[in-house]
Amino acid sequence: MNRYVDSMIKIVYDIKVYRENIQQIVQKNDVVVELGCHIGNSTRILAELASDGRIIAIDNSPEAGSSMEMVMADYHNVEFINADARLHETLEEVFQKIKKCDLLSVDLGGGYHPDTTFKVYFIWASTLKPEKTIIRNRGLLDFALSAETQEVIKSQKGWLESSGDAGIPPRLKEFKHWSQKIYQEGVDDRKENKD
Ligand SMILES: C[S@@+](CC[C@H](N)C(=O)[O-])C[C@H]1O[C@@H](n2cnc3c(N)ncnc32)[C@H](O)[C@@H]1O
Repeated sequence: MNRYVDSMIKIVYDIKVYRENIQQIVQKNDVVVELGCHIGNSTRILAELASDGRIIAIDNSPEAGSSMEMVMADYHNVEFINADARLHETLEEVFQKIKKCDLLSVDLGGGYHPDTTFKVYFIWASTLKPEKTIIRNRGLLDFALSAETQEVIKSQKGWLESSGDAGIPPRLKEFKHWSQKIYQEGVDDRKENKD
């Protein structure tokens, strides 16, 4: 049984499963942020599926550039940014372009450090509030399936609703584009301390 079938946050390891999930969840008008596009093999799939949408693909490897130029030549809806996804400036650049996305796809490498992968996911998802997220990472998959809990805190979106805007970098918060209903900096924190 697939316990993630109804979840808007998918965690996968196998690249085939990653691409199968992409096939299932991407819609024609989706705005997609792909972190770790490498030479664009999955970007091409995303670009076909979101034919009336937009794909912002990011990678910091030297070999990504020339391949992604070819992807951009083939697909008008793809934009490649050669940058480090861990940097707030990169998120800021993307935020200025799209403000929000429908799908956040994170593949920094299946065996990449789960702590860094989670932090990148948390900050980007907290800021761009994706409806859906897919993360390819072995350590996070192991953690999700190995952990047990008696409590249920579950988000209906691709970002962690229980954390509100907690992951948004302070500099980006200055843009004040967030819903005041969700983001009450300080108020929620003080309330939690009293509880
Ligand atoms: C396994 S490859 C991605 C494969 C691609 N998603 C696909 O489906 O074909 C992982 C990519 O993540 C990139 N990457 C790793 N850390 C990164 C970072 N901090 N910022 C941007 N890209 C990063 C690597 O350069 C590499 O190209």
